[in-house]
Amino acid sequence: EDLCLDDQVEILPYDVRWEFPRNRLKLGIQLGAGCFGRVVKAEAVGVKDCEESVKTVAVKMVRSQTNVAALEALVSELKIMIHLGAHLNVVNLLGACTKSIIKGELLVIVEYCRYGNLQTYLIKHRKNFINQVDEFGYLLSDAEMQERNTAIILKKDCPGDENQIKIQEQFEVKYVVEKTTSVPASATSLTIEDDKVPGQTDGEGCSGDVNPVSFGVCQQDPDAANNVRELTMSTTDLISWSFQIARGMDYLASKKVLHGDLAARNVLLADDGVAKVADFGMARKMYYEGNYQQSGEKLMPVKWMAVESLTDRIFSTQSDVWSYGVFLWELFTLGKVPYPGMEANHQLIRQLENGYRMEKPNFAPNYIGEIMSGCWKLDPNDRFTFSQIEEKISSQMESAV
Ligand code: ADE
Repeated sequence: EDLCLDDQVEILPYDVRWEFPRNRLKLGIQLGAGCFGRVVKAEAVGVKDCEESVKTVAVKMVRSQTNVAALEALVSELKIMIHLGAHLNVVNLLGACTKSIIKGELLVIVEYCRYGNLQTYLIKHRKNFINQVDEFGYLLSDAEMQERNTAIILKKDCPGDENQIKIQEQFEVKYVVEKTTSVPASATSLTIEDDKVPGQTDGEGCSGDVNPVSFGVCQQDPDAANNVRELTMSTTDLISWSFQIARGMDYLASKKVLHGDLAARNVLLADDGVAKVADFGMARKMYYEGNYQQSGEKLMPVKWMAVESLTDRIFSTQSDVWSYGVFLWELFTLGKVPYPGMEANHQLIRQLENGYRMEKPNFAPNYIGEIMSGCWKLDPNDRFTFSQIEEKISSQMESAV
């Protein structure tokens, strides 16, 4: 019972069935990078369920092959992913190249998510946001939107091209939307000033020219730049992502895995509006007790952390719920940085202990605001669970149709 956390992860076995031949993996451009690790795009021949065909994948590796701590962290991430198994709303493991681990090389192959991380995506698509929430926090029906006459009229059944919807030009969104399942028949348009995003200067690993029209995690990824998913983003999308991530997190909770760093930067967007929880670098498996106590001083995502994590270094599924609340706030502010203007950690902690919480963002429906409050209860046991959150969102989604 006295095992420290890293020992606990060590108990998890590596399953050789995940081993993938290094010579069938062709590494490509960098998609992103953190302090210790980086992610590159790659082509894999015959990876999981793909027999002999080539599949685009993402490969995680350490930055420096001499950094043992980074390598160990990646090993534990791999083991956690093996333990987790597959779920639609989690970035799934596809394989690993572990043969050269003695030389410090470990490649962890995961699903490639074309549209990159949600934080970057929200900021890039802010200008084309279609708000469906009124000033009282109610979600408007299409009919109500039309009635308000502030709407953009989306002309469906554009002659000659069934997939395209033209948006009337006198309004701000002046694009031809290539495909839409989630864009409503009418909507109010708005423009929001761009926010600077901290941490972007550490480069996301991209150097050289920045392509202003591309989007996704890496601005150099030509695939992401050329495949424009949708030019608009609506409240419906935000709600759908909220629901999907609650599902992904509920799955993690069911496997007794806590994420430890849930934030929009760690949610990836795949095809068809599918959102996936990513980056289990901080994930922990709770073997002997529900809660995990952080031992050393590590870099911590303070603004996403629960009060008890900040004050007593206690992490649990219920502290992931707190982070989920902050994630919702990021979503419905279209990628703003939480607690704007509060940069001193001690100040933030004191305020949180005194009961201060962020307000419901204007773009969030009231029930989303209620979920946020339910994630930020001081006592972890008073917070909603991920399955309750799923339930709350799905019941609202049903009543909205
Ligand atoms: N950036 C980091 N991980 C990624 C992934 N799996 N797909 C696309 N971009 C990524």
